[in-house]
Amino acid sequence: MSEPFESGREFAVALDREDPLRSFRGEFHIPKRESGHGEIEEIYFAGNSLGLMPRRTRGCVDEELEKWGRLAVKAHFTGVNPWMPYHELLAAPTAALLGALPTEVVTMNSLTVNLHLMMASFYRPTRERHRILIEDRAFPSDDYAVESHAAHRGFDPASAVVRLRPRADRAGVTMAEIAEVLEREGDSIALVLLPGVQYYTGQAFEIEAITRLAHEKGCVAGFDLAHAAGNLVLRLHDWDVDFAVWCTYKYLNGGPGSVGGCFVHQRHGSNESIPRLAGWWGHDKETRFRMQRGFRPIPGAEGWQLSNPPILSLAAIRASLDVFQAAGGMEPLRDKSIRLTGYLEWLLRREIGDAIEIFTPEDFRQRGCQLSLRAKSGTPGKTVFQRIEAAGVTCDWREPDVIRVAPVPLYNRFEEVHRFVEILRAALS
Ligand SMILES: Cc1ncc(COP(=O)(O)O)c(C=O)c1O
Repeated sequence: MSEPFESGREFAVALDREDPLRSFRGEFHIPKRESGHGEIEEIYFAGNSLGLMPRRTRGCVDEELEKWGRLAVKAHFTGVNPWMPYHELLAAPTAALLGALPTEVVTMNSLTVNLHLMMASFYRPTRERHRILIEDRAFPSDDYAVESHAAHRGFDPASAVVRLRPRADRAGVTMAEIAEVLEREGDSIALVLLPGVQYYTGQAFEIEAITRLAHEKGCVAGFDLAHAAGNLVLRLHDWDVDFAVWCTYKYLNGGPGSVGGCFVHQRHGSNESIPRLAGWWGHDKETRFRMQRGFRPIPGAEGWQLSNPPILSLAAIRASLDVFQAAGGMEPLRDKSIRLTGYLEWLLRREIGDAIEIFTPEDFRQRGCQLSLRAKSGTPGKTVFQRIEAAGVTCDWREPDVIRVAPVPLYNRFEEVHRFVEILRAALS
């Protein structure tokens, strides 16, 4: 079989030249550092942690600062893009990225807060069916959240939380293992909460199939999309997902600690019998300012809002959503991402396959941008990581021994992948 790539640098340069999305790198501030011969751009492969700052962000945030200075409180109701309905501006572009209806998504709070709000509504435990299925290596915040919810409802987290453990010889759980657990224990499980992409291994979960299996067993299906939003093509509405939460500071480039996102399927959005933790920003817009008792939720995900949102953060997210829209949405980005990460994997295996282990799935359908690596050579992984950082790469380290690298299709280049593999080879020796 012919090889999909070539190993020379000129091949990478040619891929960049032919890349229809190449101009989008210019939309971002690329961090630089001093090289001894002037400043050079870093190889930034940490978009899975904090996405880069779009150049248009400053203008969008400045607009709101300017309105604050000029109009102060009146900016809630007057001028361009008044603040009262400001979050509505984000609904359609966010929905397009998540495969949702605009009424099914809202930008609010942070991921973990949204997870709590969603569990308050969709984790409806009974004595017979009160367990929550998560994965063994769930992001700790999710683990704390589900344990605390089980305890909050009077159940012992030790038995209420079911953890999917991968087999000893594998990094991730397979679809067959998920199906097996649901078949065996589904009748006692109230909520299945899994990631879109696993933060540590980079494994992409089959959201549609998991949702179907969960529903067949009478369970609610919720997803943590922290590492999937802005990374994978998602169809949350069609896949019938009950709820999902995500953050906007990773692949969505919303800035440090930017406001999170939340999806509630249309099936639930107008169901007022679903209990929720309520706040005034989720109350009917027509009567919100009558300041009366009696909560009446806005239909759709907006009805789960609690507080008036931080406009400066929403403005920054809007700037980034504009960039996604200009790039044509997730499909072209995902096409490039499959090539970019595929090239990284191919080059790693070919050039230094003996010295590193890649434990992200090989099948591109089971991963996003990120590859998770482990050094196999005598040099300790932490030392390798420190060396590549010193050589101009920004990626991230996860204890005890994992280097995560995520080339991002909006702003990374094939040539950077090529350089990265050379730097890693030198660091391993
Ligand atoms: C998979 C995953 N879940 C949850 C979180 C927590 O997000 P937040 O701090 O926005 O609540 C993170 C943060 O990086 C994450 O990666």
